[in-house]
Amino acid sequence: MKIALIGYGKMGKEVEKIALDRGHTIALIIDKDDEKKLNPENLKGIDVAIEFTIPESAVHNIKKCFNSNVAVVCGTTGWVQELDTIIDFCKNNNKAFFYASNYSLGVNILFKVNSFVAQIMNKYDTYEPHIEETHHTQKLDAPSGTAITLADGLIKNLNRKTNWVKENGTNPSDLVIKSFREGTVPGNHKVIYESEFDKLHIEHDSKNRQGLAMGAILAAEFIAGKTGYFTMNDLLNI
Ligand SMILES: NC(=O)c1ccc[n+]([C@@H]2O[C@H](COP(=O)([O-])OP(=O)(O)OC[C@H]3O[C@@H](n4cnc5c(N)ncnc54)[C@H](O)[C@@H]3O)[C@@H](O)[C@H]2O)c1
Repeated sequence: MKIALIGYGKMGKEVEKIALDRGHTIALIIDKDDEKKLNPENLKGIDVAIEFTIPESAVHNIKKCFNSNVAVVCGTTGWVQELDTIIDFCKNNNKAFFYASNYSLGVNILFKVNSFVAQIMNKYDTYEPHIEETHHTQKLDAPSGTAITLADGLIKNLNRKTNWVKENGTNPSDLVIKSFREGTVPGNHKVIYESEFDKLHIEHDSKNRQGLAMGAILAAEFIAGKTGYFTMNDLLNI
């Protein structure tokens, strides 16, 4: 596969290593100082663009790839409010788009376990849930995209919570997400249920970025040659 890397930061570099190991070609690398190189001429012949940049530039980059009929695997978080527009555009115009707030296998298993636990907890309202996420100090968005996906999964299955809030909830129906920024932590997520008598938590702790980068490459291999919108549910079939 001929891959374009859009965003050559921590994730872009990790994705490059794994792509090369798996026999792919990195035909184009774009970072913030050479945005103009993201043009139809340079995108010609690219099978998939893998986008890990910043929330402010993700939508613009995705649209440029769509205009050149290049499939996009996007990992940038913090732009969830525009996700539906991109998905609709992709479907209505026969483009190819893969999005995951987290490309790690373990986290996607956690998403399923989270929904299952919330279904059970629906019957036990003595347990108060909240979510905690910890990341490195350079992370720009808070809460993390993964924490928001966990919150959405919980709210969908637990009737007594209707919306998530940052830090302090004022209504019993608020699901609180607490964000911590520490050192070089790649990513830690906990869903915690606390009662007067005990505390139950489910947790995922990333050891490094390799699992995330591998997930993005598997997504690129999966989406190449297809049209439509895909997620980790399509890739992993958990
Ligand atoms: N979905 C996942 O599994 C996953 C995993 C890790 C990180 N992320 C997210 O991916 C994004 C990138 O993470 P990172 O750790 O690589 O960050 P990073 O800061 O190390 O890298 C981002 C890179 O994007 C570049 N950039 C900024 N604007 C650009 C533009 N307009 N065009 C091209 N490049 C541009 C920056 O110069 C930088 O090199 C963040 O939103 C992060 O939250 C998602």
